[in-house]
Amino acid sequence: MRIYEKDSVVFLVMIWPSNFHVHWRQIIHLMLTVPLTAKQFHYAMGMLNLKVPLIHPLDANDYGRLAMIEGRKINPNFMSYVALYLTDNTTFEDIDIAVSLDHVLAAKLYPFGATTNSDRGVTNLKKMWPVFARMEEKGFPICLHGEVTDPKIALYDRERVFVDTVLVEIHKVFPRLRIILEHVSTKEGAQFVMDTPNNVGGTVAPQYMLCNCNDVYLWPTRNCFPMINSPSDQEAVIYFAKNCEQAFAGTDSAPWGDDRKFCDGGKGGCLTEPYAVPLYAEAFYRADAVDDRFEQFMSVRGPKFYGLEVPEDTMTLVRKSIEIKHSIQIDSGNMYATPFMAGEVLRWSIDSSI
Ligand code: DOR
Ligand code: ZN
Repeated sequence: MRIYEKDSVVFLVMIWPSNFHVHWRQIIHLMLTVPLTAKQFHYAMGMLNLKVPLIHPLDANDYGRLAMIEGRKINPNFMSYVALYLTDNTTFEDIDIAVSLDHVLAAKLYPFGATTNSDRGVTNLKKMWPVFARMEEKGFPICLHGEVTDPKIALYDRERVFVDTVLVEIHKVFPRLRIILEHVSTKEGAQFVMDTPNNVGGTVAPQYMLCNCNDVYLWPTRNCFPMINSPSDQEAVIYFAKNCEQAFAGTDSAPWGDDRKFCDGGKGGCLTEPYAVPLYAEAFYRADAVDDRFEQFMSVRGPKFYGLEVPEDTMTLVRKSIEIKHSIQIDSGNMYATPFMAGEVLRWSIDSSI
């Protein structure tokens, strides 16, 4: 990474970033949601919790290919992958097929009822052991939505309890399984990844670095799952993103039309994608870490974790403020969404346009 000044303006040149966790939604949305990703990221991993989740490897692969076609209209280097949605009925033959496909890079565990469209998610983890065994054998990674759903557990403790019970057990039974704890949001989640060997990684979404629960109260655009947690959890997530070799970017951008979000029983999910790189830059700026650690987190550790080549092309950021818009169109009809931190000012923006 290189930082230089020209005519009193500061520029930053870095390897093109990648995003290993993003929701592009239904196929009809790809036209508008994928370009938000492709203009900022080299590799991206789309999640398949669509209204009808994509639970078959060939459907998953088709979706990944469609996303690539959309993305390459604006970024010829863009490459999209997906994480196959695991259900109680996923077989190890499904894993064998998934491993052979170009766009399926991992599988994703949604505990039943934990989050959006998780009603096809896994109800009994032990029954998945043969599938996990096959994934371990094939070196095929599993992405975890790390929350328990026991109604007796407070929302703020769902990730901690998942880590202490479910994740510890999966890792004990399958020590070589490549695991990604998605959207790390607690000290326990961060600590688990830091304490385990490098076949375990964790993604961090910008909202968990930029906010804590005090900033979410009365701000429905900041609601997401797992919940944005306490100030000390935020500190732990920042430390993790800055310092852990196994931590990398995954925006968890999850668009919802305003009508679905701003109501009783409104949906969880932050629309982070339109300003993803500037949001992360702001988070690292506040953490006094706009240096090699920023580039490692954004651009290097993720591709390495997934065994992909680290991109050779570079992106230039400029130390110029940018104000987040209040509304972004997310489908060709009339669906508008309010981005995360709408109206706020970020201190770095992207200079090089494609
Ligand atoms: O807040 C979230 N929204 N968390 C998730 O895990 C899923 C996502 C969505 O798809 O809406
Ligand atoms: Zn997600």
